Amino acid sequence: MRITVDGETLAGEAGQTIAGVLLAAGRRSWRRAPSGAPRGVFCGIGVCFDCLVIVNGVRDVRACRRRAQEGDIVTTQSRTEAP
Ligand code: FES
Repeated sequence: MRITVDGETLAGEAGQTIAGVLLAAGRRSWRRAPSGAPRGVFCGIGVCFDCLVIVNGVRDVRACRRRAQEGDIVTTQSRTEAP
């Protein structure tokens, strides 16, 4: 299964979450808090919302809860951006 993250193709296993694919690719963070601090997986169970990404144009998707699907287009986002 392959997804695209900020234009880069990443391979994952069926059933992995988007966060799982990102972590397996060596990414520890993919978002910035308003302070500029890096954010990625914190709780890993859908509670903290630190892992938010845009998936196929939908903002604020929790990467730790969303299973990656073949062909997903993932874009990183920041709380400092305008919606
Ligand atoms: S890591 Fe906490 S909601 Fe995803």
